[in-house]
Amino acid sequence: MKLSALNIYTCPECKGKFEIIKTDSVKKHDILEGTLKCKACGGQAAIHKGIPALINQRNVKGSDLKFQKFYDRMSPVYDPIVKFASRILFGGDIAFRGEFARHLELKPQDRVLEVSVGSCGNYPYIGTFSGHLELFGLDISKNFLKQGLKNIKRWKIDAELCQGNADDMPYGDNSFDCVFHKGGINGFSDKSKALGEMFRVAKPGSLITVSDETENMFYTKKQFKKVGLPSFEELGAPLDLIPEEAVDVELEQTAQGMMYVMKFRKPLE
Ligand SMILES: C[S@@+](CC[C@H](N)C(=O)[O-])C[C@H]1O[C@@H](n2cnc3c(N)ncnc32)[C@H](O)[C@@H]1O
Ligand SMILES: [Zn+2]
Repeated sequence: MKLSALNIYTCPECKGKFEIIKTDSVKKHDILEGTLKCKACGGQAAIHKGIPALINQRNVKGSDLKFQKFYDRMSPVYDPIVKFASRILFGGDIAFRGEFARHLELKPQDRVLEVSVGSCGNYPYIGTFSGHLELFGLDISKNFLKQGLKNIKRWKIDAELCQGNADDMPYGDNSFDCVFHKGGINGFSDKSKALGEMFRVAKPGSLITVSDETENMFYTKKQFKKVGLPSFEELGAPLDLIPEEAVDVELEQTAQGMMYVMKFRKPLE
């Protein structure tokens, strides 16, 4: 965790600001092992291997808990599986991930949040779109984030990652120039709350971009059930759950109709 991120993070319990009360391992401006304490409620959060755990684990229930366990187990094999699938289905990662990145309206110096960042597989593609970006990523799966840290180190990409729940994010209001999500919302326990959180942490005027599978995805709900995953209530864009105040709502299909891209904007105040 970067020391500078202390200004961005908020307590998942009460949205208070943190202070650092213990550091066991620090490398330049990065805390590898340590403890944060909320100045408002006194709640503590551990930083382990550079990743702060900013999550109310006892509130992680239903399909969020099932997917958290699933992705914790799957983290070592996810990257090669997705790479293989995107080559066979869409002609490779540039076509699959790069095509999504073109929707994001990024500008150099933007502070960007990927909600459900996983192993950071989208970062190499958004980085090529504009110069320097201040990257933040949140995910519910600790093991997936550890894989993400390894990946960005190898790719020489700088990003600040934390463990958190999309429906209760540890960031202040109006924090990011761009907020995006790809690939998890179909399985969220509370999609409406997660979309509300993406809207809350976006700065006024910012674009929020959300993408996941449509009904046309080659694998079916039944196949998910077979591998022990909770089957999705429904696939497709949750247009009806976008916050009412949002403007410029758009919906497109990509990846040969197997994924949707849903965009909306937080209005300028
Ligand atoms: C299919 S992966 C996509 C990862 C990454 N966005 C990508 O494009 O490679 C779905 C991700 O959603 C995360 N996830 C699932 N439920 C979540 C929740 N409630 N809050 C935050 N992340 C969640 C999983 O841990 C997993 O990393
Ligand atoms: Zn607190």
